[in-house]
Amino acid sequence: MARRKMIYEGKAKIIYEGPEPGTVVQYFKDDATAFNAEKHAVVEGKGVLNNRLSEHFMTGLNAIGVPTHFIRRLNMREQLVRAVEIIPLEVVVRNVAAGSMAKRLGIEEGTSLPRPIVEFYYKDDALNDPMVTEEHAIAFGWASQPDLDEMISLALRVNDFLSGVMFGVGIKLVDFKIEIGRIFDGDFQRLIVADEISPDSCRLWDIETGEKLDKDVFRRDLGNLADAYTEVATRLGVMPKKSGSGNGPKLVH
Ligand code: TMP
Ligand code: ASP
Repeated sequence: MARRKMIYEGKAKIIYEGPEPGTVVQYFKDDATAFNAEKHAVVEGKGVLNNRLSEHFMTGLNAIGVPTHFIRRLNMREQLVRAVEIIPLEVVVRNVAAGSMAKRLGIEEGTSLPRPIVEFYYKDDALNDPMVTEEHAIAFGWASQPDLDEMISLALRVNDFLSGVMFGVGIKLVDFKIEIGRIFDGDFQRLIVADEISPDSCRLWDIETGEKLDKDVFRRDLGNLADAYTEVATRLGVMPKKSGSGNGPKLVH
């Protein structure tokens, strides 16, 4: 098959033109980056795992009525998704203090929060994705007040769903980041969950041991990232158990 035209290359994914209008193909790379790509490695199999995991979460969200861009998986590393206009705000939801919030506010990592906290970060690598308020988003035209209300509502629904799914397999959803896109049905605009949901964009801690099963394993040099993601995928029934070292992830059909 002729290679599709590339639309955009990010740190962990490539977007290609889709087979029909209104669609694009999302390709998951093995690249892992942290601290705005200051730290970089190629983790064999990560793209395959994230493709499957994002499919799993987005399919579940679609099934319970939380709209997402996901249409179908195409192969080990690619999925067909709806083309959206990405809103330039990362939406972070936190259930437990960790990462930048623990640091900024001097709260011990692992402290449960009294309620989920939603934060917005302006997507701009040159600025290191600074945290912004709703006032900034409205004043600078990134999103309207109704958009922001809808984004918070979507993010909290994703939080409830993902928290439950993870709890079912002995994992605490500490926090996560989503991106949201606009689609247009004629004059009518809708917001849907886009990008990816994977251990790259979540903090996942084993409920019993506190073991980290997300990208912090890479950020903080805690072990093998692919093994951590395989553990998540295996618990969720998305991948079979790894049979010996050197074996890449295999698909369950
Ligand atoms: P933070 O504690 O570093 O602000 O991260 C909050 C959550 O957002 C965490 O689950 C990791 C995720 N995240 C991303 O997906 N991309 C990013 O660029 C950053 C900084 C965090
Ligand atoms: N996603 C960002 C990067 O690629 C930061 C992070 O996830 O820690 O550098």
